[in-house]
Amino acid sequence: MKATFHGHACFVLERDNKRVIIDPFLTGNPAADIGPDKLPRLDGILLSHGHGDHLGDAVALSKQHKATIVATFELAQFCTDKGATVHAMHIGGGHDFPFGRVKLVPAFHGGRVEGDSTGKYTTNPAGVVVTMGGKTVYHTGDTALTMEMQLLAGRIDLMLVPIGDNYTMGIEDAARAVEFVKPKSVIPMHYNTWDLIKADPQEFKRLVGNRAAVTILSPGESHTLS
Ligand code: NI
Ligand code: MN
Repeated sequence: MKATFHGHACFVLERDNKRVIIDPFLTGNPAADIGPDKLPRLDGILLSHGHGDHLGDAVALSKQHKATIVATFELAQFCTDKGATVHAMHIGGGHDFPFGRVKLVPAFHGGRVEGDSTGKYTTNPAGVVVTMGGKTVYHTGDTALTMEMQLLAGRIDLMLVPIGDNYTMGIEDAARAVEFVKPKSVIPMHYNTWDLIKADPQEFKRLVGNRAAVTILSPGESHTLS
């Protein structure tokens, strides 16, 4: 399985010509290496929560690729009402899709949906656990360090973890999150997109030490899980 970073919290995961994107914030993302029009064909669009820097281009991409958006019930409802194809789930539930299995797990963060002036689509933010081709990836979404992460201990091949501080964990809590989850490898995300979330990924790598292999990706770069 290959994971490609597209800036901020956006990743494309692919194996055997099946492809999903997580948190497709490309339009307006100062860290994105490509626009949404340059993405390869997508089978699924996985959302951690409804903030603009995660929901991003999801609805437009769903229409363009006839790809299913997978999200918590309320956020999925918002996307349906915007004309997207969706599959609604909720925290703690998993489902098998043609591209692989998705499970939503807890995240501590805000639940408002960008573009929803009514507040009626406000939802629980989530972490996204995706299993494709025998490898399991945990995209924590935007979150604080939480005890719930320990429930995933030893079950994760690749952890995608925010280190930018302010809205999410900073490098110290992110390193503790790695201790909790014990993944084989880690890629830091959600930093340096704006000045407010400036962080040093090398310092994060140093704090993680020998607990996991940390790979620092620049937007456009990929990491292959073997
Ligand atoms: Ni957020
Ligand atoms: Mn965010």
